[in-house]
Amino acid sequence: MIESSAIAVGVAVLMLILVLVLVVLAQFRRPPLMVATGFKAVLITGCDQGFGYMLAKRLDGAGYKIFAGCLDAEGEGAVTLQKEASPKLEVIQLDVTQDDQVEKARVTVVDSLEGRVLWAVVNNAGMASHVEFELTPKAHFRKMVDVNLIGLVNVTRAFLPLIRATRGRVINISSMAGRTGVPGFTAYSASKYGVVGFSECLRREMVHFGVKVILVEPFIYKTAMGTARNVVNQNDNFWEMADPGIRRDYGEYFFSQTQEARRTLMMGGAIKKLNEAIDCLEDAVSSPSPCLRYVPPWHMKFLNDLLSLLPFTIQDYILHRITLIRSKPYMVMPVENGGGPRAGRRRSHAL
Ligand SMILES: *[C@@H]1O[C@H](CO)[C@@H](O)[C@H](O)[C@H]1NC(C)=O
Ligand SMILES: *[C@@H]1O[C@H](CO)[C@@H](O)[C@H](O)[C@H]1NC(C)=O
Repeated sequence: MIESSAIAVGVAVLMLILVLVLVVLAQFRRPPLMVATGFKAVLITGCDQGFGYMLAKRLDGAGYKIFAGCLDAEGEGAVTLQKEASPKLEVIQLDVTQDDQVEKARVTVVDSLEGRVLWAVVNNAGMASHVEFELTPKAHFRKMVDVNLIGLVNVTRAFLPLIRATRGRVINISSMAGRTGVPGFTAYSASKYGVVGFSECLRREMVHFGVKVILVEPFIYKTAMGTARNVVNQNDNFWEMADPGIRRDYGEYFFSQTQEARRTLMMGGAIKKLNEAIDCLEDAVSSPSPCLRYVPPWHMKFLNDLLSLLPFTIQDYILHRITLIRSKPYMVMPVENGGGPRAGRRRSHAL
């Protein structure tokens, strides 16, 4: 008797879940516009190099009309891109942090559609650095948030009406650093967590319009942004600029070991198969049923999601090990740093 009522409850719950799933699916079913690729235009920001450059070429080859936003429309990257792509690709000057350039880009796009629809905006423009928060110059932190987050917000705002009209897509490039905070990624992660938060909210707001908001969150790839030399050189500058008291608390020894660790990590860890990230981006633009979140390479999504299930103390330990930073700042470990046994131990310059 008890058993059969338990089964009945079970069946009822299952039915309820099934109905819910059907209701949800019905809500979200707004068929995409049936438009041939040749009539679709795509705006990509940050096409001077790296992912943006590669994606522009790939989608141009697939028949899309590409508006390739470049930080420097006269620069080497933009010029080469224009030469290597078909004549219908259009390079546009677009620094995402300059409001007037965003507006000008919007006008150019509207004027040059020639019967096509703006199908997708790929927010790719971005910058990165890998250094401790206290060694990050204030202006650099601000610039990071401006480019990676506010610039992306402003571009999205400008083009969203066009995208809504075509039930198109907004594709934001975030990063794994937008889901997991790793030491040395402070400014970058702050901007990318912002991108993730915004995009997830916007995705749920845009459901009404049949607009898909897609996040692509690559691991570290060997683009110009991810080369060890650029990172290390930039950090050397930051060190020179840092407040003397901060430099004392962290110490030369710690700084140079973190630089060494970053060099090793980026040389060995950055993924060279850029095409797997471009495959995801192409799929996000052109698949009839794209994923809402791509994390190339796929096994990193698995590892990252797994990591996020662990208690914080264990996550902290693992992430610390991964960074290869073995030394400690002078303030907490003066001996190793070449100071006397008691020199400055646990004394900040601030005290
Ligand atoms: C974003 O837009 C606002 C409002 O137009 C503007 O004040 C700001 O400078 C823009 N910021 C960036 C970083 O693009
Ligand atoms: C992309 O992210 C920005 C914030 O970083 C947000 O303003 C914008 O709405 C997002 N676009 C989409 C379509 O998610």
